[in-house]
Formats: sequence, C-alpha cells, structure tokens
Amino acid sequence: MNWDDTTDETAPERLVGSVADGEDQAVEAALRPKDLGEFIGQEKVREQLDLVMRAARARGATADHVLLSGAPGLGKTTLSMIIAAEMNAPIRITSGPAIQHAGDLAAILSSLQEGEVLFLDEIHRMSRPAEEMLYMAMEDYRVDVIVGKGPGATAIPLELPPFTLVGATTRAGLLPPPLRDRFGFTGHMEFYEPLELERVIHRSANLLDVEIDTEGAAEIAGRSRGTPRIANRLLRRVRDYAQVKADGVITRDIAAAALAVYEVDVRGLDRLDRAVLQALLKLFGGGPVGLSTLAVAVGEERETVEEVAEPFLVREGLLARTPRGRVATPAAWSHLGLTPPQAAQTGNGQQDLFGT
Ligand SMILES: Nc1ncnc2c1ncn2[C@@H]1O[C@H](COP(=O)(O)OP(=O)(O)OP(=O)(O)O)[C@@H](O)[C@H]1O
Ligand SMILES: [Mg+2]
Repeated sequence: MNWDDTTDETAPERLVGSVADGEDQAVEAALRPKDLGEFIGQEKVREQLDLVMRAARARGATADHVLLSGAPGLGKTTLSMIIAAEMNAPIRITSGPAIQHAGDLAAILSSLQEGEVLFLDEIHRMSRPAEEMLYMAMEDYRVDVIVGKGPGATAIPLELPPFTLVGATTRAGLLPPPLRDRFGFTGHMEFYEPLELERVIHRSANLLDVEIDTEGAAEIAGRSRGTPRIANRLLRRVRDYAQVKADGVITRDIAAAALAVYEVDVRGLDRLDRAVLQALLKLFGGGPVGLSTLAVAVGEERETVEEVAEPFLVREGLLARTPRGRVATPAAWSHLGLTPPQAAQTGNGQQDLFGT
C-alpha cells in the first residue's frame, strides 16, 4: 500500500498517521489559516514568502513560482491558498497524479487567467511529457500544442498569461533538477515545535468552540509528532472524550485520559509504533534484526512497518536503520521502561506511557 497517496480511500484511519482521512478533509477547510498572519510557525518560510509576495505586489507583477516541500500535514496546501489570497488572485487546484497526459496540462494552462495561482499538489508524481510541457510554461509562459500525428505533426505555440505555479511535494528529492531549478523560491517546511502546536490547538479549539486550558493544549501538543494535522485530529478525539466523560472542558488530565483510550502515548507513539519497539527490544534484544523478521514479529506487512512506523521512530531517535538491520537506541529502552541487557543492574519498572 502506498501511504503517500492521500487519495487512496482504502488507507485505514490512523489517529497519529499524518495522511489526511475523510473527516480531516472535511474539517481542514474550516481550520485552515486564511492569511500569513494567521499561519503559525515556519518563521523562515513565512518571512521569505512574505518578501516574495510583497515585492511582486509592489511591482504590480505576478509572484514567482513557489515550491513547497515537507512532510504530510505541515501546511503546504494551506500555504498555497494563503499565497493566492495574499496576491488577491484566484487559485486552481490540481495534482501530479491527476494529470495523465500533457494535453490535460495544456488544457489547464491555457485556461488560466492572468495572475492566477496554479496549485500542483504531489508535483513529483507528474508524467514525463507533462513535466516537459511545464518547463516551458514556467519559463516562457508558452506551451506547444501538438496537432496531428507522425511526420505531419506540427507544434502550435500558445501564449499563456503570466501565472504563479505553486508546487507541493513530500519528496523534494524526487523532483528532476530542471523542474526544481525553475522555481524562483523553494520553501522547506519543518516539523513544528511543541509551543507552536499549542498555538495551533488553541486556535482550532476556538474555531471548534471547545474550551481547553493551557496544560490541556500542551498535553495534546506533546503527542502530535510535530504535525498540525495530527494536533487537530487529536484535539477532536479529546473533545469527544471530554464531552462524553466530563463537562466538555479539556484539561491536562482529560487529555491524558482520552489519549490513553486512543493508545497514543506521551511521545505520540501509537499501538503499531510501540509494537515494533517492543518486538525489537523484547524478542531481539534491541537488534540488529532484519525488517522482514521484525514485520512478521508484529504481524504487519513489511511496507507498513517501514513506511508507517519507522520514519517517526527514526526521527525520534528511538530506532536506527543500519546495514545489518534495525537497532533500538538507548532512548527506546528507557521509553518502554526496559533495561538494556548489558546494563541490566537497576530494575526500573514499567513506566506509564499514557501519563494517566
Ligand atoms: N501553520 C499552521 N497553522 C495552523 N494550522 C495549520 C498550519 N499548518 C497546517 N495547519 C492545519 O493542518 C492541516 C493540514 O494542513 P495542510 O493540508 O496544509 O497540510 P499539507 O502539507 O498540504 O499536507 P499533505 O502533504 O498531506 O497534502 C490543516 O487543517 C491546517 O489547517
Ligand atoms: Mg496538501
């Protein structure tokens, strides 16, 4: 299964997964910041984009093409809409996989209005011919429409109005250099700091009309994996719990109790993440162990372990991928309240991961 594919309707809902599910998509529109001032965090990208747009506005010109790269749920789609809003321009939304043929792209490009923002999500998944057409469109505001077939085919050049391409990708490394070079500005989105996520949570709680205190927001922020989409999703689940089990107000205790029910621990690990770590520690003494063996031990597909659980575990410094296999770090042992074999002298008991 391809977990990068947000349009894959068979992807099971996962509370801490960064891919958007149906409910997210419905709520995300309502929770999206509408302008740069409302957009929380990403100071660097925000400052840089602000300059790009201000300068373009002052010149009365169309903003340069913008590439936004970063992990799912960090705000790429949100920023693209903000760019259009700040430039006072309409926005057209499409995605790499939606453009099968160069002709599809030609149709979109030739119907753009002057100054319009074209948002191309998952730009790394575009077909080769479409990509080549895009090179010319970005650089010269021109496309060649091919009429006819074989030796008699002719290219009819078509002038395009100036437009701003905003490309988004979770895999900037997969973009061919000629495409990457045609963007006037590339913004790299980073994972959010806990304090920034707290602000995201307070803002969303406000919009959802949910009462939450500072500590409640901090509790959720700490478990959100640096990702606003996950913060918003956990907030909604904690709200449910607060409504059913308490008076609706989210405090630290309520947040901790709710997230224990959903099996999201104090560092944001969910059941699968912990199962992987537990197998690695308890069955294989911390590794190294091969990915396939590890996957069998937790009863999951290899791909699920590799693409769903591991990236976060690696980022958190709990697991390392080595040429000889997967290895647990000392932090993994202490997170699960276990003692590494070589240092088995102090018996520190199982700690309460859910913080209840
Ligand atoms: N800086 C931010 N401030 C407040 N909310 C944010 C911010 N960034 C993202 N969000 C919220 O997080 C959710 C996900 O953001 P968005 O859809 O823009 O992510 P994305 O990077 O496009 O993800 P994907 O790669 O899956 O398409 C949205 O509901 C948005 O409101
Ligand atoms: Mg998006």
